[in-house]
Amino acid sequence: MIKLLFDPSQILTLNTAGKNQKKGDEFSDVNVIDDHSVVIEDDLIADIIPNSSVKKSSFDAILNLNGKIILPGLIECHTHTVYTGSRVDEFRKKLEGVDYEQISKSGGGINSTVKAVRNSTFEELVQDAKPRIENFIAQGITTLEIKSGYGLDFENEIKLLQVINYLNEIYPIDIIPTFLGAHTYPVEYVQNHKQYIKVISDQMLPHISKQKLAKFCDGFCELTAFSDEEINSIFSSAIDNGLKLKLHTEQFNSIGGLDVALQRNAVSVDHLEALKDKDIQKLVGTDTVAVLLPGVSFFLNYQYAPARKLIENNVVVALATDFNPGSSHISSLSLVMSIAALNMKMSIEETINAVTINAAKALCMNEEVGSIEKGKKADFSVFNCDDYANIVYDIGNNLNCITIKNGNVIYNSTELSFS
Ligand code: NIG
Ligand code: FE
Repeated sequence: MIKLLFDPSQILTLNTAGKNQKKGDEFSDVNVIDDHSVVIEDDLIADIIPNSSVKKSSFDAILNLNGKIILPGLIECHTHTVYTGSRVDEFRKKLEGVDYEQISKSGGGINSTVKAVRNSTFEELVQDAKPRIENFIAQGITTLEIKSGYGLDFENEIKLLQVINYLNEIYPIDIIPTFLGAHTYPVEYVQNHKQYIKVISDQMLPHISKQKLAKFCDGFCELTAFSDEEINSIFSSAIDNGLKLKLHTEQFNSIGGLDVALQRNAVSVDHLEALKDKDIQKLVGTDTVAVLLPGVSFFLNYQYAPARKLIENNVVVALATDFNPGSSHISSLSLVMSIAALNMKMSIEETINAVTINAAKALCMNEEVGSIEKGKKADFSVFNCDDYANIVYDIGNNLNCITIKNGNVIYNSTELSFS
């Protein structure tokens, strides 16, 4: 089946010339082309051709996009989308001046969601996640990472991963499962770290690996969660079980997580709000992606990660929502792009590259998705504006109007269709 996305006002190809990532000067270029159309062959991008050379009779179906903009399908590379229960009470406390760490010490925080998840069935978790995933699809997101981390015992971590895998089966987008058993210590193991690490290493990880339930193993290296040595021990078991690594690190404190992640060649280090200037050099020349989550700084009202310094040092930078009930109850990726532009001084072009090609790299999928280049998956987001800058300027508004995954329209708020 050969299809054509005909006559958009702009195509942002994000062409990487085979590098499949953007850093340095290339990070500020979105490679816009006008007067061209995109050819799709089955589920792949076959070509980008001048409108003047289009012979309409050579296509099985044509979608006329006159006046709209085509981007690669957006990639959300860090979320905690599967959970139950509400933490709106914590939000109220936060507004009254109680901070996030105090809330978690007084029984709230991650462990309050753990309680809710342990009391929920597989089906309840699926039902709660569905509208959240549909909301991501409506934004043009075609690849979505989701972490476990609210079960924190064998039964419930596996249940969460099974839910995430099930959601991947029932939705047309790619949902990538990450195991986050090392999110924090569950209440029953607060006094016995060694035993919980043993449960992760000897029970959870071997089972997850055998059942192929997760692609990545993530952790949280923080004073209130896991130390660098504890993370190192879990990473060693994760590697033995064939998982790739990610780490929540330098969020509030810098306690050695970055070093462990880099020694272990982690695919990404996420957060970095507390990254020290002297440590930026450690990331230079590595293949590890810095996944910045400015929605968290906005939501918790504290400092932002040093995006400009990372970019100036040629580090590969991605952006994500970190959508979760406690520290970033923000599901809008374009809002996060706007926050990144306004508060981390990223350019509009940088924010676009950060939620596409570089986010793909943070999921080890940058050879198949993240840019509009021949041979990549035919995943697109179509925006209803005549200049791509509006995506970031129109703060909090979803301008995506059509989402295309593997060549098929999976969301459409317009009158247009393939014909
Ligand atoms: O990515 N950093 C730790 N974990 C989440 C917050 C989860 C929660 O509060 O429920 C985060 O920010
Ligand atoms: Fe997170």
